Amino acid sequence: MASGLILGIESSCDETAAAVVERGARTLSSVVASQITMHARYGGVVPELASREHLRAIVPVVRAALAEAKIKLDDLNAIAVTSGPGLAGALLVGITYAKALAFARGLPLIAVNHLEGHIHAVLLNQRTAGQPDQDAAQLALVVSGGHTHLYLAQPIAGTWKYTLAGRTVDDAAGEAYDKVAKLLGLGYPGGPWIDALAQYGNPHAVPFAFAQIKMKLHLAGKAPRTKAATTAPIAELDPHFLFSFSGIKTAVLRYVGLHNLRPEAEARRTALFTGPDAPLRPTVEEALAMCDPITLDLIASFQRAVVGDLMKKTFAAAESLGVARVLVTGGVASNRELRARFTAEAARRGVAVSFPTLELSTDNAAMIAAAAWPKLQAGDFAAHDLSAEPSLALGGGPMQAR
Ligand code: KG4
Ligand code: ZN
Repeated sequence: MASGLILGIESSCDETAAAVVERGARTLSSVVASQITMHARYGGVVPELASREHLRAIVPVVRAALAEAKIKLDDLNAIAVTSGPGLAGALLVGITYAKALAFARGLPLIAVNHLEGHIHAVLLNQRTAGQPDQDAAQLALVVSGGHTHLYLAQPIAGTWKYTLAGRTVDDAAGEAYDKVAKLLGLGYPGGPWIDALAQYGNPHAVPFAFAQIKMKLHLAGKAPRTKAATTAPIAELDPHFLFSFSGIKTAVLRYVGLHNLRPEAEARRTALFTGPDAPLRPTVEEALAMCDPITLDLIASFQRAVVGDLMKKTFAAAESLGVARVLVTGGVASNRELRARFTAEAARRGVAVSFPTLELSTDNAAMIAAAAWPKLQAGDFAAHDLSAEPSLALGGGPMQAR
């Protein structure tokens, strides 16, 4: 274990990724093969196509990660793979390949929860910058296309313990971004489009509001309603730290109807993304030229409301739990307004806030290899019958705020 070299493999959604990370701190390579252009045609991830593309990509991606790191399989100390949550068929491709490699080379296999991976994306950046893991607990907001979860992350005896503190009861924030973008005839994934166009609109034009969720009793014992809601229990959580993003999507839909924005959205969709003459990758300027001021105001207001809600509940949870360090990670953490407003609010409250670099915000395998490092040291290895767990939850929970 002298070198601490871990090959990470990630295939939970629409990115096939492999990376080599040394001792959870130094990234020797990080290769990501994105399927975005393929799924974009369908306006979202098609699970069957995702599995097929992972099958195609997994061998070349792992080879590229090893080649870029200038190492051979024999140099590795362990192989880490995402075991869930995610799409079952997609996860299985990475797991099966990781198992085969580990077995063939006699290497330990380490199972990593995708959400823990996102948290370690930030820790990897910090370790790379020479900052060892802090002793203090952190509040982690994992905000992506599949998740909007708040965890208390505590370093305990060299590993990390996670306790669920809050979560969405329906759609994930990234899912809301993607659905609203689709509604407005923008491309997939929608987050980056809304991020780019929001700065051209008036964020105060449409007063979207998030009602306080009073669902504690209502949700008790009920099955979750959407894919984002399947990975952790809800009923025992403090309702102040519950998110809900399906309402704002409906409000946007109503606004689109009220202001007759649909023909404009359809024209944009055809011209920029789906028509025979659609550019391969439209630019923000091209999209902007096709948006009237009402649409831009709507986009800016939507984003302001979502970021405001994420911010309000995250800092309220941090305060209530007595945590002075906040980290925000996952695809939506690349959002510019989110970063700016979280940074300003953290400064105002005297709380530390950190984000992953942009490459490590969205799905990648370096975060998986980094999360596996404490597990390698602790000898926390996966069994040979490791299988995909599409609804895998992270850590213990739920917890009550103090
Ligand atoms: O972490 P990720 O790559 O995959 C999941 O685990 O879901 O996150 C993808 C999600 C998508 O919903 C995408 O629209 C959103 O992250 N996203 C963004 C931005 N970049 C990606 N949302 C808002 N602003 C962005 N700049
Ligand atoms: Zn993710």
